[in-house]
Amino acid sequence: MTTATATSTRIYNFSAGPAVLPEPVLKQAQEDIWNIQNSGVGVMEHSHRGKVFDAVMQETEANCRKLGNISDDYAVLFLQGGATMQFAMIPMNYSGQGRTVDFLHTGTWTKKAIGEAKLFGNTHLAFDGTDCQFDHVPASGEINYSDNPAYVHYCSNNTIAGTEYSSVPDAPAPLVVDTSSHMFSRPIDVDKHALIFAGAQKNLGPAGCTLVIIRKDFIEQANPDMPMMLNYKKQMEKGSMLNTPPTFPIYIIGEVFKWLLDLGGLDAVHKLNQEKAKFIYDAIDNIPFYSAVAQVESRSLMNITFRTPNEDLDKKFIAEALDQGFSGLKGHRSVGGLRASVYNAFPKAGCEALAAFMADFATKNG
Ligand SMILES: Cc1ncc(COP(=O)(O)O)c(C=O)c1O
Repeated sequence: MTTATATSTRIYNFSAGPAVLPEPVLKQAQEDIWNIQNSGVGVMEHSHRGKVFDAVMQETEANCRKLGNISDDYAVLFLQGGATMQFAMIPMNYSGQGRTVDFLHTGTWTKKAIGEAKLFGNTHLAFDGTDCQFDHVPASGEINYSDNPAYVHYCSNNTIAGTEYSSVPDAPAPLVVDTSSHMFSRPIDVDKHALIFAGAQKNLGPAGCTLVIIRKDFIEQANPDMPMMLNYKKQMEKGSMLNTPPTFPIYIIGEVFKWLLDLGGLDAVHKLNQEKAKFIYDAIDNIPFYSAVAQVESRSLMNITFRTPNEDLDKKFIAEALDQGFSGLKGHRSVGGLRASVYNAFPKAGCEALAAFMADFATKNG
């Protein structure tokens, strides 16, 4: 029985990723998989060099630029290898020759990036959140940069810890950001960054594509001796088509961009995301049965982490929630607890319904 559903066949999916996609996008895709733009051929069956896919690619890039207010100073690339490939591709291109890369270490995803960067050069933790269990992102007074870093890497939304920066950190070097789990969930200050990357499978589309927005003058500073797939300049010159690109993920990302523009763009989406998250944070704050994981000023609008009084109750919560039509509420295996991921496409009614379930569960188990 799915008492919390918007339709009889789809339940509220709080998965951290791959994650919920907008229903209008899925409906359009159902048609286009069969026959896109009356071409008599489905979107996945078109040559990436043909007119139909070329138009999809052009429109997707143009709408990305429109949404993020991205100038021609930046290249917009659609790459493969996930966000994890960027953890290696960036230091391969920009560290080495005795240079140091500075990291603001805020959890699992910066740990992985640090591990990859160590393969290519020196690293320095300008902030290390380990001792506070990554319960917040750094205030400016907590950051100590090294002398002359090659670049600074941070993760603007920490999917597992449930923390998010509310503003872009000041940095003494080109700033690189992993925005995988909140890309286009709110306005983004592109001009403060040299490179922005996001795996698609949370807020942008299906797994299999990584959006990279990179300043063209930063591309010029990259190591030219890279294999072509790892060479930002070659990827830019060939419009992300050095080889067959992930055509279907790019098509879906394009449809998601149109949906975001129809919603009113990033200011409107941000407002909606604030309203959505408030239902759940209010339940956490107002019901003493629950405790928050992230510090208030660092709370993520996308990944809401919390706990019941003990692990047994966490398990019971997850099981009973699933019975009621709420899936994906288990915290990441490395930290336990509970996590509600409420990306752009997650419906507001689902947040309200979860808050009501939380109140009911606390009454019965408190
Ligand atoms: C913030 C962040 N960065 C990187 C990754 C890794 O992404 P991918 O699986 O696309 O390599 C994830 C995945 O959950 C993530 O949440």
